[in-house]
Amino acid sequence: MAEPFRAVRISERVFWVGAIDWSIRDFHGYATNRGTTYNAYLVMADEIALVDTVKAPFRDEFMSRIRSVVDPRDIKVIVSNHSEMDHSGLLPQTVKAVEPREVLASPMGVKALAEHFHGLAGVTAVKDGERRSLGNATLTFYETRMLHWPDSMISYLDGDEVLFSQDAFGMHLASSERFDDELDPALLNEEAAKYYANILMPYSGLVTKALDRLGSLKLPAKLVAPDHGPVWRRGFAGILASYARWAEQRPTRKAVVVYDTMWGSTAAMARAIGDGLAAGGASANLLPLSAADRSEAATEVLEAGALLVGSSTLNGQMLPTVADILTYLKGLKPANLVGQAFGSYGWSGEAVQHVQDALVQMKVDMVGEAQRCRYVPTGEHLASCRALGELVAARLP
Ligand code: FEO
Repeated sequence: MAEPFRAVRISERVFWVGAIDWSIRDFHGYATNRGTTYNAYLVMADEIALVDTVKAPFRDEFMSRIRSVVDPRDIKVIVSNHSEMDHSGLLPQTVKAVEPREVLASPMGVKALAEHFHGLAGVTAVKDGERRSLGNATLTFYETRMLHWPDSMISYLDGDEVLFSQDAFGMHLASSERFDDELDPALLNEEAAKYYANILMPYSGLVTKALDRLGSLKLPAKLVAPDHGPVWRRGFAGILASYARWAEQRPTRKAVVVYDTMWGSTAAMARAIGDGLAAGGASANLLPLSAADRSEAATEVLEAGALLVGSSTLNGQMLPTVADILTYLKGLKPANLVGQAFGSYGWSGEAVQHVQDALVQMKVDMVGEAQRCRYVPTGEHLASCRALGELVAARLP
């Protein structure tokens, strides 16, 4: 019987055997508006290897793609580059079905897999730089700790010259196309930036070191095959340059103004700040939380130089939507930002101070004074907000 799902050949010996998740829209809080893919790769060397598995609900699709190339029981080696369950979810079932000679992971990966899948035994640790012969090809493993989990590693296949980069250089994008050059470059840049901002931004210092190391290894990779999104066949130099730039978090003349409002007063203040920013020559990007989500805010902040956050006061607190954004952004550790807090209130007005405290904790450099107004801003209040915008613009490079 013909398999309903087929593998896609990406090089002489390597086949994509992943799954396409067209429906996912929330990836533990990351808004995946274009779905995603979980990529796994079959290496048809003398000794057949499987690199990563997919998210558990996609078992039938994954196994069918493998069977379209080979009897799964012929797989001798399974490599787990990353133990997060979108890639390891089917590992126990796959090991049971395949009975490989060995399952390989980084030393931290061995521990993480044991703590995810109690009873999964026999995973062998490979050291940084260790090689595994597959007969007519060799896999080499490189640890990439904390990019973005302690267990993360990448694997390089010589001969076909494929770098299996796990989450690195990936993106959440469901598509029928498997290669970057089959897709719109602007779309790839947008989704890769979103992925970097929401997954890798907190580890930017380590990204810089990893890129330096990758450069020094001089791997002649023809293909870079991540665990999400397309395989890089033409545009890897471009995404590599983008990663270097994003990791630097160099401030730009873009200011992000994130706010929520109860009766329009904080929104009016945000608009006045935005006008001031523009008058000062900055690019102002206003994100009302009635229309923007946390992942969008993180993506906008990635290439910004300023972050201003506004909230009305509700029962002595900032609005829950604003608290959500600040909690999320704090974890992502954006760097090199200037900014300020603002908002309206009725009688107590604690929110602006709470927002400012959160921004200071995030090491955002405060510019001028926080802007507060009671109930509805006067023309004078709005002029003061506009002046804040101009002041922030003057601090941008
Ligand atoms: Fe795609 Fe960190 O898992």
